[in-house]
Amino acid sequence: PFPVLNELRRKSPVRYDESRACWDVFRYEDAHHILKNPAEFSSKRRLAGNENDTLLTMDPPRHSQMRALVNKAFTPRVISELEPHIASIANECLDAVIGRGSMDVVHDLAVPVPVIVIAELLGVRPQDRMLFKEWSDILVMGSEENSEASFKQLMATKQRALEELNVYLGSIVEERKKQPKEDLISLLISDEIDGEKLKDHEILGFSILLLAAGNETTTNLITNAVRYLTEAPKAQEQLREHPELIPGFFEEVLRYYPPIQAIGRVAAADCTIGGQPIKAGDQVVSWVASANRDESKFPDPDTFLIDRKPNAHLSFGFGIHFCLGAPLARLEGQIAIRAMLERMADIRFAAGTPLVPIQSPFVFGVKQYPVTFS
Ligand code: HEM
Repeated sequence: PFPVLNELRRKSPVRYDESRACWDVFRYEDAHHILKNPAEFSSKRRLAGNENDTLLTMDPPRHSQMRALVNKAFTPRVISELEPHIASIANECLDAVIGRGSMDVVHDLAVPVPVIVIAELLGVRPQDRMLFKEWSDILVMGSEENSEASFKQLMATKQRALEELNVYLGSIVEERKKQPKEDLISLLISDEIDGEKLKDHEILGFSILLLAAGNETTTNLITNAVRYLTEAPKAQEQLREHPELIPGFFEEVLRYYPPIQAIGRVAAADCTIGGQPIKAGDQVVSWVASANRDESKFPDPDTFLIDRKPNAHLSFGFGIHFCLGAPLARLEGQIAIRAMLERMADIRFAAGTPLVPIQSPFVFGVKQYPVTFS
């Protein structure tokens, strides 16, 4: 998609797309302005998934209150304590394939790591993890065909999974009310906004948001990182010799291959962007994947620089909605890649396999990524 986005940014940096009935914004400066100004560009948009009426679609003051509450569970310090545990999850995934000399990065590593981590954060019982993974897979499933019948069927399947997940998480909420533990659900139960406890449906909604917002994105981050390492094998050696480069490498993977390509808002009042008049109520899409390659912000933007500095990409958003899970996603990505580089040499894309992109214009990722290694 990047050459197309580059061209659109140069030719029509702010344009109205009749077929989708929304504005597309391609420049860094404009995308940044939109994300930075929640009073002018509201998040109260309709999303296709199950994220309605959650942090992602709230504006202040409610957003600020909810966000302050959940921030406590996601501080970099809290997250960094998970490191040894995440490393053992990643290594267990690799144990299963290490003798084979080949693996599908998506299926064998990039999907299970984030799902298991979130399940544990939420307090899902270990014996129920597979069940939980099935529900979470269904929630992010895209429709393969475009027919109305297949779409309806998918929606019905998602609805059922959502109901089952609600019942399951509801049972954990009840257990924790009787006996709190050291998990996220116990924290959400005990906390208050303006002296009021969160309602059960808010706790469940937030838990499901974490699945929807955190799993597929992190899966694609890990896969996109391996993808780059197979496209530029020298980088494998460089990171093995200098593991201190891994955090910066991940920022560059995020910029270069952003798991989420675009972020939506709704104009709250009449305004102009890049000289174009936008009316209150218009949908506005900020193309992060284009902003990240804007030459006025990033020198030599189409080149992957393993130690690019500064690297103010917009892949986790910006401002008050900046990704809550960013420290967790970064840590999971870094641990997964470190484990692969430590245990595998000469990681190569399995030649002859077609790259099948994920069927969503807003997601950058592939369905499988088979590799060989020694
Ligand atoms: C928000 C990307 C991983 C939870 C966001 C936003 C982006 C994003 C772009 C801003 C959306 C907006 O402004 O409307 C990503 C990427 C990830 C990732 C690229 C992985 C590489 C995660 C993880 C979690 C998570 C692991 C949780 C465990 C959230 C939540 C929000 C959010 C709850 C809403 C925050 C708010 O509205 O205040 N994410 N995310 N994300 N993300 Fe992530």
